[in-house]
Amino acid sequence: MSAALPTSSREWHLVARPHGWPQADDFALREAEVAAPAEGRILVRNKFFSVDPYMRGRMNDVKSYTPPFKLDHPMDGGAVGEVIASNAEGFAVGDHVLHGLGWREIADVPAKHAVKVDPDLAPLSAYLGVLGMTGLTAYAGLFDVASFKEGDAVFVSGAAGAVGSQVGQMAKIKGASRVIGSAGSDEKVKLLTEEYGFDAAFNYKNGPVRDQLKEAAPDGIDVYFDNVGGDHLEAAISSFNVHGRATICGMIAQYNSTEPTPGPSNMALIIGKRLRLQGMLVGDHADLQPQFVQDVAGWLASGELKYQETKVEGIENGYDAFMGLLRGENTGKMIVSLA
Ligand SMILES: NC(=O)c1ccc[n+]([C@@H]2O[C@H](COP(=O)([O-])OP(=O)(O)OC[C@H]3O[C@@H](n4cnc5c(N)ncnc54)[C@H](OP(=O)(O)O)[C@@H]3O)[C@@H](O)[C@H]2O)c1
Repeated sequence: MSAALPTSSREWHLVARPHGWPQADDFALREAEVAAPAEGRILVRNKFFSVDPYMRGRMNDVKSYTPPFKLDHPMDGGAVGEVIASNAEGFAVGDHVLHGLGWREIADVPAKHAVKVDPDLAPLSAYLGVLGMTGLTAYAGLFDVASFKEGDAVFVSGAAGAVGSQVGQMAKIKGASRVIGSAGSDEKVKLLTEEYGFDAAFNYKNGPVRDQLKEAAPDGIDVYFDNVGGDHLEAAISSFNVHGRATICGMIAQYNSTEPTPGPSNMALIIGKRLRLQGMLVGDHADLQPQFVQDVAGWLASGELKYQETKVEGIENGYDAFMGLLRGENTGKMIVSLA
């Protein structure tokens, strides 16, 4: 074990449950003591941690597929870091690991919940994004859940984000006839068509989504990858060809809503078009992990697949990074860097 362990670590606590958009005083950056790891545990100095839209749901005290964050406890989520002390077989000081105790500088991690990662194969932060949870979400959601096949026309919302940017490019790589993306700024729209090879893209803030999608996909769409919900889902239903398939991955447009949000007004089209709208959770698709890593590593190496990260420096800016994600200040994966 290392002789000079840190004695304290800063960590973000949820201190009040947000109603609508989170406020700064719903969170507190607090100091915690650090002790040597107990049997079966490792101490990790986090280098990067992930902020993700699903964390907004965990701030509510409601029954869901993941338990709510506890008040006055450290929040958690994906992180990568370096082992600084180990009391577990198979882990040594200097190893790099992916684990689930983000939002803090030093994490006391049960070794069974840590996975070793190789910083020589990919930048460490990539294990939180393109080679991690969001990348697998894109891969599984497109190829498995939406049953994508060559020749499909694909529409993806949140297209400049971590999941969306990968969905569109993966569809192109696998022979989509047309890929259309929507995003919240003209710069993001430009990135989609000029860097990521989308055939068309539009800024959903520039006009009704339904009209802009119709114009961008004159022959209709076969697959819709939904990251947004609301008017995007309604527009997709309207533009679907028969036997269209939607992966319902996220509905970020309503995560801060304080009132129940109305559903699409055109659901009856599902009948005549024989549409399939399928929800997904990435955690159900762990079986695809080896194939996902092999494919994505290959596409990254060949330059067919590109990705971006928006890195916010410093643990003290963790809350701002999370809020920036909800406001669309990120392009690609939003990450807090402690390196
Ligand atoms: N089901 C699963 O297992 C799973 C796993 C991972 C992620 N997800 C979901 O997938 C979606 C994307 O996640 P991500 O991690 O890749 O995040 P992300 O897309 O990198 O970041 C969130 C983006 O959402 C957009 N946004 C925010 N408010 C919006 C609104 N009202 N209307 C339209 N767009 C809005 C912003 O981009 P703009 O500038 O374009 O507005 C922002 O950059 C989220 O809905 C998330 O909850 C689901």
